[in-house]
Amino acid sequence: MRGLFITFEGIDGCGKSTQINFLTERFAKMKKPVVKTEEPGGTAGSNEIRKILLRENNFQWSVETEALLFMAARNDHVEKVIKPSINDNKIVICDRFMDSTLVYQGMRSSRAKQLSLDLFQLIAINPDITFLIDMEPEIALRRALRRSTKEDRFENYGISFQHELRKNFLDIAHKHSDRIRIIDGNQTPEDVAAQINESIEPLAI
Ligand code: TMP
Repeated sequence: MRGLFITFEGIDGCGKSTQINFLTERFAKMKKPVVKTEEPGGTAGSNEIRKILLRENNFQWSVETEALLFMAARNDHVEKVIKPSINDNKIVICDRFMDSTLVYQGMRSSRAKQLSLDLFQLIAINPDITFLIDMEPEIALRRALRRSTKEDRFENYGISFQHELRKNFLDIAHKHSDRIRIIDGNQTPEDVAAQINESIEPLAI
């Protein structure tokens, strides 16, 4: 017996958080042990890495260094939270995972992509299912910029960057169609949730 590892992906402002909250509540109501977590983050150490990655713009790291930091945060998170929870039969719902690194860093540097893939072999855990909330970048970006947060690192890259992100997420989803479900995020939150629940049913019950 082993738990379940579910990840959510998509461009900034696509509505992941709302859907993660819906799904977490749904499992909790069903009395299933559920762990809601996020990347970069999920542990004290990874949260520190998150802070320097997303709140400081002064270091001018290369994309490769940036990828290594995301991978370091991921390793700590997997070691301390994700693997132990799954081994303890829990359902882990994680806001972003490796696909985000392949898109956000990988699309800007093939070397960063290769470095990340090499390190991911050591981390050695793949989600059972990933939901890519696909959405019009114009709407998503407007929503992301309305949020009052200091974590604006990638939202500030502009609309063409968001279009590029979306394209890269879709490419990965088509390549891994056995794992990644593309969900149309332009529907109402309730309709999006219904589509997610339908895909989860065979795995979680
Ligand atoms: P969030 O806003 O969904 O919490 O994600 C934080 C930001 O970090 C978001 O703009 C995407 C970015 N990110 C990467 O660039 N690489 C990664 O590996 C991850 C997990 C997030």
